[in-house]
Formats: sequence, C-alpha cells, structure tokens
Amino acid sequence: MKLAVVGGGSTYTPELIDGFARLRETLPVEELTLIDPAADRLELIGALARRIFARQGHPGRVVTTGDLDAGVADADAVLLQLRVGGQAARQQDETWPLECGCVGQETTGAGGLAKALRTVPVVLDIAERVRGAAPHAWIIDFTNPVGIVTRALLKAGHRAVGLCNVAIGFQRKFAALLDVAPADVHLDHVGLNHLTWELGVRLGGPHGEDVLPKLLAEHGDAVATDLKLPRPLLERLGVVPSYYLRYYYAHDEVVRELREKPSRAAEVAAMERELLALYADPALDTKPELLAKRGGAFYSEAAVALASSLLRGTGDVQVVNAFNNGTLPFLPDDAVIETQATVGADGVTPLPVPALDPLYAGLVADVTAYEDLALDAALRGGRERVFRALLAHPLIGQYAYAETLTDQLIAHNREHLAWA
Ligand code: G6P
Ligand code: MN
Repeated sequence: MKLAVVGGGSTYTPELIDGFARLRETLPVEELTLIDPAADRLELIGALARRIFARQGHPGRVVTTGDLDAGVADADAVLLQLRVGGQAARQQDETWPLECGCVGQETTGAGGLAKALRTVPVVLDIAERVRGAAPHAWIIDFTNPVGIVTRALLKAGHRAVGLCNVAIGFQRKFAALLDVAPADVHLDHVGLNHLTWELGVRLGGPHGEDVLPKLLAEHGDAVATDLKLPRPLLERLGVVPSYYLRYYYAHDEVVRELREKPSRAAEVAAMERELLALYADPALDTKPELLAKRGGAFYSEAAVALASSLLRGTGDVQVVNAFNNGTLPFLPDDAVIETQATVGADGVTPLPVPALDPLYAGLVADVTAYEDLALDAALRGGRERVFRALLAHPLIGQYAYAETLTDQLIAHNREHLAWA
C-alpha cells in the first residue's frame, strides 16, 4: 500500500507519521511519500519520519520528493494538507476582517473566503495530476476550508472525501468524561464543516443509547469551559455545538478578544519555529509534546481510520465530508455536509439524519448558500462574485461591510489570485 502526503513538509506531519506507526495493523503502509516544494523542510521532516518508523519497528519506506506527479504515482490514497501562502497568508485572514468588526479566522467569515479563493485552484490542479498519475487513488482532504474544497473536488468528479478532526476530538473528550473507550462513542454529528452540532452521544454503536443528556448534566461545566460558551446556553440547546459555532453565538465577544491578543497565526508561527528546531535533533524519534498544542489533535487517527476503511471497504461508520444527496432535504444534493457516513470501497454514504431543528437548519442553509457562492468566486474569480459571497455570509450580510471586505480581500491576496 502506498500513501502520498501533499504538504508532507508541514510541521503537522509527525502527527500523521506517529499515527501510521502506531496503527500499522489497521493501515499497513509499505511506502509513504512526502511531497513538498520546500526542500529543506521536507528533508528535515522526512528524516524524523524515518526515525519514528524505525523506533516503532515499522517496516514502511519513507520517500521525499518535490515532484508531485512522481510522488503521487500509483498511490492508493493521497492526503492533501497544504496551506497556500503559509502562516503569513493566514495572519492576513485573521487580521483585516477585524477592522470591520467582523471575525478574523482562517475558515470562518471573510478570512475563510480568502483562504478558499487561494486554495481551490491549487487543490484542483493537484487533483487533476493525481487523476493522471494514480487514477484509482482516494483523495483525503484536510486542506481548509474543507467544506468548500471538498465540494470543488467532488463537483470536478474526483474520488475525494473531506476530513476534519472536530468530531474525533469530541469523541475522545466525551469518552474520557464518561470513562468509556473512544471506539464506543458514536456521535450524531450534523452540519457543515466547522459548523456542526452533536445532537446525540451514543454508546456502543450508531444506534446505541443516547447519553448526551447525562453527559451535559454530569459534565456540563467541563464541556462548556472547553467551548468557552456558558453552560446554561448548552443546557437550553440540549446539544453540543462545535467550538467554531462560538464565532456565531458569541461573535462580538470573539472580535473583542481577537483584537486584544496576538493572532493564532503568530502563535502557530512561533510554535513552528520551535517544532522545527526540535525536529532537527537527530536523537528525536517520537512526536514531541509541543505538537499537542496545535489544533490538529487526533487527526492522524481519523486519517488512518478513513484511509483504512476506504481501501479495505470495511463499511463502518465515520464522520466525513461528502455530498448531501438528500440527507438534509432542505439543501441541494451537491452541497457538502459533515456527518456520519458508512465508508466502503466505493466511497462514503451519509447515514439518514432526523429532521433538523430550524434553530440549526437556518444557519446550515445560509452557510451552504455562502459556500456555493464562495466556490463560484474561487472558480471564476471577479470582484462581484467575491462581494456576493460576502453579502450572503450570515456573519457579514451588510453591503457596506461586504464592499470594504471585498476590497481588503483582493488587496491582501493579489499574488495568489490569478484574476486579480
Ligand atoms: C482544528 C481544525 C482544523 C484547523 C486546525 C487549526 O484542528 O479542525 O481544520 O486547521 O484546528 O489548528 P492550528 O494549530 O493551526 O491553529
Ligand atoms: Mn477542521
């Protein structure tokens, strides 16, 4: 089995390698190819990957290359984890929307649109090259914004599944609170990527007993503290929103906080410098503790589980991003939703979802419309398409803000936008 990682020079890669090394029974990787244009960084990460494999007695071969076509050739699965423009572009996404009093975040609001516009054309180009060199490969996309990027990939006919670690993060958290094994916790997880709610927490299987009321009654404080939302709000909702919903439910509060502290991009850039220094130590042969401070905790486990089920056709249930195809009847079939799905050799099929409360359905419909317009702007370019996406976004909505943010987005991203 050959796996290729596009963006293999990321400081996140040791998280993946650690997962591949620990979970080799689930996913017997014979060749792992790390692909990245940044040669120095790639060599550093490649060498650490080989040390992690060696320490864990993993027999797989680690190959590094800057040549995308050669790197993905004959791969069984290709993981996409790239960041067009790096942390510097992210820093911009997190900053200029704040000037209008709008949230500055790399996947939500105007910053998320900027990231989508930079990223979609690059990912589609990579996917075409994967189609040429490895026509049967599954593309597993972690590249944000995952909802829009996955929609772009699926609409272009690629064998793609979008993945995020929010669900597996909740699964692990709830398992610890309930003192059960993570594999026993099944989430009724519904919505769009970075816009989801846990409507139920089931034990033992996707149809097991729903212990969410008990979880909120007994551990409401822990859950609320983690999400930085008031416990009474969670009790009134009776569901657990993902922490990305705080950008909606506490928008102005978040804007005030963001204005007062260094950006997450700056924090991450500092962490990355430290991580790279650690990775350069030839004695290091494990994933360093510091990596746990990044947002991507457990993403290796989610990736291993998904790749394994796709390649082996196990038919088990996992949370993924896939075409709606009627699951949420108020959305178009070609909207991409994030929900539980069976994972087989032919791809993923969302499980049926009970009728969604209008409290959540309204927001999901709005953001789906925004994502549709965002994808149109990413594919076809043009100032007016950017404006339309921003005007449709429920966190923006007013024409004066949409005008200013359109100008800012284009000014800050000109080098990444072929049409600007
Ligand atoms: C979570 C999200 C990812 C996002 C990451 C950011 O894991 O699910 O989509 O990329 O956080 O983490 P960072 O450490 O870069 O802020
Ligand atoms: Mn995510």
